[in-house]
Amino acid sequence: MTAATTRPLLGAAMSVVCNSLTKVYGEGAQQVTALRGVDLEVAHGELVMLVGPSGCGKTTLISIIAGLLDHDAGECTVLGENIDHMDQTAKARFRRHLLGFVFQAYNLVPQLTTAENVMIPLLLNGMSESKGLAKAREALERVGLADRCGHFPSQLSGGQQQRVAIARALVHEPELIVCDEPTSALDHATGQHVLEILRGIAGNDGRTLIVVTHDQRILGFADRIAHMDDGRITHFGEPRISMEATS
Ligand SMILES: Nc1ncnc2c1ncn2[C@@H]1O[C@H](COP(=O)(O)OP(=O)(O)O)[C@@H](O)[C@H]1O
Ligand SMILES: [Mg+2]
Repeated sequence: MTAATTRPLLGAAMSVVCNSLTKVYGEGAQQVTALRGVDLEVAHGELVMLVGPSGCGKTTLISIIAGLLDHDAGECTVLGENIDHMDQTAKARFRRHLLGFVFQAYNLVPQLTTAENVMIPLLLNGMSESKGLAKAREALERVGLADRCGHFPSQLSGGQQQRVAIARALVHEPELIVCDEPTSALDHATGQHVLEILRGIAGNDGRTLIVVTHDQRILGFADRIAHMDDGRITHFGEPRISMEATS
């Protein structure tokens, strides 16, 4: 594990920079303020975990960073580009090429085999099926599922399905991988294994990861922990200190 720091390394190029981000859902009496001015910097190759109570704005924040949701005010620069300056086509291209997203509920397509699910980002990027299949197999091997390429999601355990979702998120070698509660449906041992894979992607490949989690048992895999409450990041912590404080 890399040394824990409470701030990104000085001089390191930033993958993500959010300044005073705000987001309000709905109108009138139905209005919900989800983000009240979020400041966040994540360095290249860093694994940052985002923790905080349900409803504090974690999914909203990573959806904005992933270009899936528009914010109201503030600035968000991802991989050197201000996402305010991207139109929908540019955002779609950004998501297809530079971003991997791992959802809590896996979001695998049930009618497709694991290899076909993993190939999706490659086919969207115009790769041929035969080349895509070979890359999908490699990605599945990386998450320990080389022998499950032809299985359908319903034939896999929850932990295996989540590993397929991770393979799909990394198959196109994105610079930034965003995970929303990737271990919440998994038992302890499987959750640890999933984090070991994600840790390796940040540490060995130099990719940037932002992992939203409720799961105290995986905090030790982070470089830094961003604590969020009521639409704001309140403080940053080191994994060891954060775990002691919550145990
Ligand atoms: N599409 C939406 N429409 C209206 N309110 C929403 C929507 N999505 C989230 N919210 C509200 O915004 C707040 C933050 O939600 P969310 O980002 O999902 O929090 P978290 O992921 O931390 O649980 C919550 O109060 C939630 O109810
Ligand atoms: Mg959420």
